[in-house]
Amino acid sequence: MKLIKATAEIKKDMKKHRFRGRSIGFVPTMGTLHQGHLSLVEQSKKENNITVVSIFVNPTQFAPGEDFAAYPRDFETDKKALRELGVDILFLPGGREIYPDGYSTYVEVEKPGQVLCGRTRPTHFRGVTTVVLKLFNIVTPDNAYFGRKDAQQAVIIKKMVKDLDLDVTIRTLPIVRAADGLALSSRNTYLSRDEREAALALSRGLRKAEQFVGDGLRKAADIKQIVKKELEIGELIKIDYIEVVSLTTLEPFDAGNKDAEIDVNNTLTAAAIWVGKTRLIDNFILGDI
Ligand code: PAF
Repeated sequence: MKLIKATAEIKKDMKKHRFRGRSIGFVPTMGTLHQGHLSLVEQSKKENNITVVSIFVNPTQFAPGEDFAAYPRDFETDKKALRELGVDILFLPGGREIYPDGYSTYVEVEKPGQVLCGRTRPTHFRGVTTVVLKLFNIVTPDNAYFGRKDAQQAVIIKKMVKDLDLDVTIRTLPIVRAADGLALSSRNTYLSRDEREAALALSRGLRKAEQFVGDGLRKAADIKQIVKKELEIGELIKIDYIEVVSLTTLEPFDAGNKDAEIDVNNTLTAAAIWVGKTRLIDNFILGDI
């Protein structure tokens, strides 16, 4: 596995691979890799000649007061895991490499970036799309891999790719969960034992709602209510949002009509909660991103 820190160097390498006709798979990450990330890497290995992983804790997707400084970093463990999976290139840019002094260009996918997580974190997706577009320009991947836990992120990145005619295919893979149901996330490391126990209400509530939908429940408001009821049991939990939205537009089904029904082929049921100081997200999807 080749470790590259400089943009100019990886660009040269990628040019060489392209010239030789090799397909390139890319997994952008912020490190502290878990099985969710590694499943993306494994898929990229299967589908491409060359797999590139980046680790960059992107400051522009954190608002002031969020956990940029505290975000877990475990580079040695990440490097070992990626080497074992046979990753070809690990790109590790420094902050100045991505955002040199005087940097002032941002890309924003307007509408779907302002709902769900975008309401609580209004500058978050602008930071994500900016860094992802930069990384796409540097790595020039044929395929890029994202997890469906960050479903809104995947929808927004797909829209950016479509709107800006980017030459990359976005592949999304299922949420990977711990044995107790908690969706894997680098932020799970923040949770105390009690908080982790309380956090399980999130996956439990969503799973329950998914089962009801499987049994024929269609009213968006009722689906939300099932998740809410489960989350309200836990004392340590504060609900940020529970929404049932179209997977393509991210517009809520029940905005303006409390009896509205979901589209069983195109629905994202997503929730975000605070457990103590930790913000967690989870979802279930009917359809394809
Ligand atoms: O999903 C993440 O880890 C990040 O948002 C990403 C896509 C690597 C951009 O910083």
